[in-house]
Amino acid sequence: MTTRYLVRPGNAIKGRFPVPGDKSISHRSVILGALAEKVTEVEGLLEGEDVLATIAAFRAMGVQMEGPVNGHLRIHGVGLHGLKAPQVPLDCGNSGTAMRLMSGVLVGQTFASTLVGDSSLQKRPMGRVLKPLTAMGADIQSQDGKAPLHIHGKPLQGLHYDMPVASAQVKSAVLLAGLYAQGETCVTEPAPTRDHSERMLKGFGYAVSRQENRACLEGGGQLTGQRIQVPGDISSAAFFLLGASITPGSDLLLEGVGINPTRTGIIEILTRMGARIDLTALREIGGEPVADIRVRYAPLQGIEVPPHLVPLAIDEFPALFIAAACAKTPSIISGAEELRVKESDRIAVMAAGLRALGVAVEERPDGAVITPSTLCGGQVDSHGDHRIAMAFAMAGQVASGDIEILDCANVATSFPGFPVLARQAGLNLEVFAS
Ligand code: S3P
Repeated sequence: MTTRYLVRPGNAIKGRFPVPGDKSISHRSVILGALAEKVTEVEGLLEGEDVLATIAAFRAMGVQMEGPVNGHLRIHGVGLHGLKAPQVPLDCGNSGTAMRLMSGVLVGQTFASTLVGDSSLQKRPMGRVLKPLTAMGADIQSQDGKAPLHIHGKPLQGLHYDMPVASAQVKSAVLLAGLYAQGETCVTEPAPTRDHSERMLKGFGYAVSRQENRACLEGGGQLTGQRIQVPGDISSAAFFLLGASITPGSDLLLEGVGINPTRTGIIEILTRMGARIDLTALREIGGEPVADIRVRYAPLQGIEVPPHLVPLAIDEFPALFIAAACAKTPSIISGAEELRVKESDRIAVMAAGLRALGVAVEERPDGAVITPSTLCGGQVDSHGDHRIAMAFAMAGQVASGDIEILDCANVATSFPGFPVLARQAGLNLEVFAS
């Protein structure tokens, strides 16, 4: 089935509502809940296809779960050594997080398993997890560093790993394998990446130490089930921060959004561009900082994105490309070569999409130079990338003609209710499935 969106300028973006649960935290609550002793109760879980793939994988390894229903999932943890050999390949769908984090768990088991994914995931680099996991003693066969991954569980040794790329998925895979390894496992990161794994491991009663840019744990401990409240996903909120910032008259309150400092690059960058974003009701829920975010329309200026903010906004570049295209002056994005290995090559796909709408984009190996102009109507191919589809949906607010966005079904991987919520907020968005 193919799904396409048709968007044309709608109303000012208004209202107050929560966004769906954080995808990264949802994956981790399923994984750690499954590996814990006793029961874990999760509230606010994202019921997107990516997280459902992780749930199905652990069910296939004998973990009983009730739900998810209305964001509630009850996980009967089997303990670190209680997983059973799956009888089928574990399908990670579109999700790099599912594949990379689960590979860290599976290498330490006493059975064999296979991880598969969709055509996008099969193109993504897995060598970045295979290398450190193999150094720990893991036995993984890949297709030239890509999925499918065939894993034979083996005894593992601890590793001190200096990560060459700033990747939370690699860090998490190594730390998860470290739970099964003999001795200490440490990961040093070249730049701060999301630290949900470290925070959640501590929530499950597992000691993780942190010194500057290094996270360490000792193998051989145990996790204890807990209650988890998943905050709203700032990466989903980002599309509404963009839409409200570029649509005159907008005034929106997004409730209960996670503002972990390793994730707030989008707020920092949009604010530097002149966006009117205010954080209120700051609180901490389950070890993660949360706030309500108010955003109002404001004219945006171009920006040279500071490289240190790139990993802190890594999933928000589709939204930032649109913000840059709608600004008053040009923008420069650099140091963002990781965008080329996301769900699509986000530099190439965003550049092509913006050009189709009449915006001049100079593509560079690690970013782009975007010279803003009035967006005209046109057809944009999202290449099955959820975040690209949602970013261009927001662009429809300010384009002079209709924008047709192709290949949008994967929006359901991270934000299944997006079209409905977007329309409620003021967008003029039609969905066509055929
Ligand atoms: C994620 C980490 C990021 C991000 C991805 C989710 C995670 O990837 O892009 O969407 O949940 O750990 P990296 O591993 O490249 O940092």
